[in-house]
Amino acid sequence: MAADHITQALWSATTTFKTYPQLSGDIEVDVAIVGAGITGLSTAYNLAKAGKRVAVLEALKVGSGTTGSSTGNLYAPIDERLHSIESKHNEEAMRTVANSRSAAIDFIEQRVQEFSIDCEFVRVPWYLFTTPETSSQNKQVEKELEAAKKAGLPATGEVPAGFPYQVEAMANIAHQAQFNPLKYVQGLAAAIESDTCRIYEGTKVMDVEDGEPCIVKTQQGTVTARQVVMATHSPKGIYMVHTEMEPHREYAMAVRLKGDPLAGGVYWHQMQSQQHSVRPYSNEQGNFLLVLGEPHKVGHKEHNEESFLKIEEYMTKHFDVDHIVYKWAAQNYKPDDNLPFIGTSPMQNNTYIATGFAADGLVWGAVSGMLISDLIAGRENKWAETYDPKRFTPVASAPKFIKENVHVATHLIKDYMFYGETDQLKDIKAGEGKTIEIDDEKLAAYRDDTGQLHVVSSICTHMGCVVHFNNAEKSWDCPCHGSRFSVEGEVLEGPAYHNLAKPNDIKKE
Ligand code: FES
Repeated sequence: MAADHITQALWSATTTFKTYPQLSGDIEVDVAIVGAGITGLSTAYNLAKAGKRVAVLEALKVGSGTTGSSTGNLYAPIDERLHSIESKHNEEAMRTVANSRSAAIDFIEQRVQEFSIDCEFVRVPWYLFTTPETSSQNKQVEKELEAAKKAGLPATGEVPAGFPYQVEAMANIAHQAQFNPLKYVQGLAAAIESDTCRIYEGTKVMDVEDGEPCIVKTQQGTVTARQVVMATHSPKGIYMVHTEMEPHREYAMAVRLKGDPLAGGVYWHQMQSQQHSVRPYSNEQGNFLLVLGEPHKVGHKEHNEESFLKIEEYMTKHFDVDHIVYKWAAQNYKPDDNLPFIGTSPMQNNTYIATGFAADGLVWGAVSGMLISDLIAGRENKWAETYDPKRFTPVASAPKFIKENVHVATHLIKDYMFYGETDQLKDIKAGEGKTIEIDDEKLAAYRDDTGQLHVVSSICTHMGCVVHFNNAEKSWDCPCHGSRFSVEGEVLEGPAYHNLAKPNDIKKE
């Protein structure tokens, strides 16, 4: 397979970005929304419609975070499976998941129609299936089919004619959807921007104080607001929910096929311990096939490049691939009890959070937009209790909660006790990143392909864990709650507000 690929998401490489101003000076609004992805913009749309004055504050560009790194698939089931909601919670919670997610897909479709957003939105079936080599997982698929039927979704076990895999077990749900997620949020932002719904780009939030009013500090000015919505995937700062979810990284690739494009659909190939999510996408540049898979916990893989190689292997095995066009990675946060956290933040009164979306964030983002705007506008919302971040679900959460927090504590201790992957900067080869201790300073050092060293503190600014090098994306990733930093120490994503510190004077060799 020829590999003339670009390390960038297909969407950002092929979408024209509109530019919004940077905040300058202090402003006062009813609601400040931190983050201009699908969660922030869906919330902004609903609040503006309810007559609220809104400011959306985006550190980078509209949709440039997780929304623009997703696959663009919209479906009512979930990555951790609907049947897990019934077993961890109850049948009613499972129905709420299916109903709220179906309503969110309808919401997106209505916005596409309302604003004539050109984002290739199309209704397609969703498939979960096994093949002969993964038939040991047939039971999982059968259970999901039963759960989907019970939850009221239009599900059958039918394998459509011409299906591109040899199927052993199948769950087929009609009337799901897919689109270009970046074009959608770009279109939505352009449609809702007004004097009372302002959108600011390049505006990094540095601190949020919950109160009456709330104070949101950015690098360019302060926003005073009655309410704040943290639409940042994982809320910025220190929140209880960070101990109730696991950060994961997953890898994606867009390839060109030699033959005909696949029929529209969300294809989830159930493997032994994970799934590969495959979808076709066509635009004026041609026909692509996207695949997402090979998840692992953030900061836990020695050689992240291996994940791309495995995806490539998978694609070559199942399709007649001509060449790889784009490859990228995306992050998600898996909640311990498999339900997202959407609503008022625990211990706070006027700050709202939306997180724990696992790999299903596009639809949860739209659900959050409906739910949080109802709470702020004082309207009843029938889903609020199920997704309440203050819920107490010890039986459903305990196994993962204990495992994850023991694991965070272990990392903290182990990474400090056995600190340092090298003693000498000169031992770090081009393309490598290693932790090192120099003059009692704990450092993270990366040598680029030109031989230049980039050295920053290795202590995560969120809660002090030691960062690990990610050799596929050339970043420093924190294994505790998923903050990620560039080799220059800038925050890329996750709960950390602040960049990694610059070291004292280091003699670079
Ligand atoms: Fe929490 Fe690094 S993300 S300590």
